Amino acid sequence: MSKDPERRSVRSYVKRGKITPAQLRALEELLPTYAIELSSTDSTDFSKLQSVAHSSHSHYLEIGFGNGSSLAYMASQYPGARFTGIEVHRSGVGRLLIELDKKEIGNVQIINHDAVEVLRDYQLPIKFDGIYLLFPDPWPKKRHHKRRIVTPEFALLIANVIKPDGYFYIATDYQHYADEIQLIMHECPQFNLVSNPQTLPNLIKRPETKYEKRGLRLEHKITDLIYQLA
Ligand SMILES: C[S@@+](CC[C@H](N)C(=O)[O-])C[C@H]1O[C@@H](n2cnc3c(N)ncnc32)[C@H](O)[C@@H]1O
Repeated sequence: MSKDPERRSVRSYVKRGKITPAQLRALEELLPTYAIELSSTDSTDFSKLQSVAHSSHSHYLEIGFGNGSSLAYMASQYPGARFTGIEVHRSGVGRLLIELDKKEIGNVQIINHDAVEVLRDYQLPIKFDGIYLLFPDPWPKKRHHKRRIVTPEFALLIANVIKPDGYFYIATDYQHYADEIQLIMHECPQFNLVSNPQTLPNLIKRPETKYEKRGLRLEHKITDLIYQLA
């Protein structure tokens, strides 16, 4: 919940309707098991995250997981790690729940909310080994650029929730957005670009995502950028 509803009127997403009966059923039946339900900023129960913070498990975050296929894939490949996904659209959450249930993947928690509000308004009791922002909405029209999720403020929110040796992984298929991200991150003193990702001991390779496939069909160049705390 935003403390001040006026504080952020420009959002990085638009409301989307369509939700299938199977997704709706998954949301009703499965979400309580996987969700971290946000209530007021000081009374939200983060015990699901806290138990990981006090364990030796690595913990990864994906922001804007879309249909959840990348998150489910990474979680299934790394059963010893824990994964949290934040996605605002219920259809994507429902789709991920169906996959988690079918494949019996138990190391994922979901926050169905605006990620900017989550990172800005809530004190997460954990820092992440890796944070993924894969193919964020590019908002290609100039008048919509202000909706892009990567801003100097967003970079600072990310810096607050990364472990000292953790990383922030961004991928995009829009050259203009890639250039803008590099500029923003370059000007953010908290981050350095990782020139040789092989040096990161905790790096989990991302799978190809649904939006990436679309970008490739359109012959867009894919840019992967990885940052570490300076
Ligand atoms: C272009 S899609 C990419 C989905 C997925 N990562 C992929 O590569 O297939 C961007 C996703 O980010 C989500 N999103 C945008 N802004 C968000 C926000 N502020 N908080 C959470 N999710 C957000 C959208 O709902 C959408 O599912």
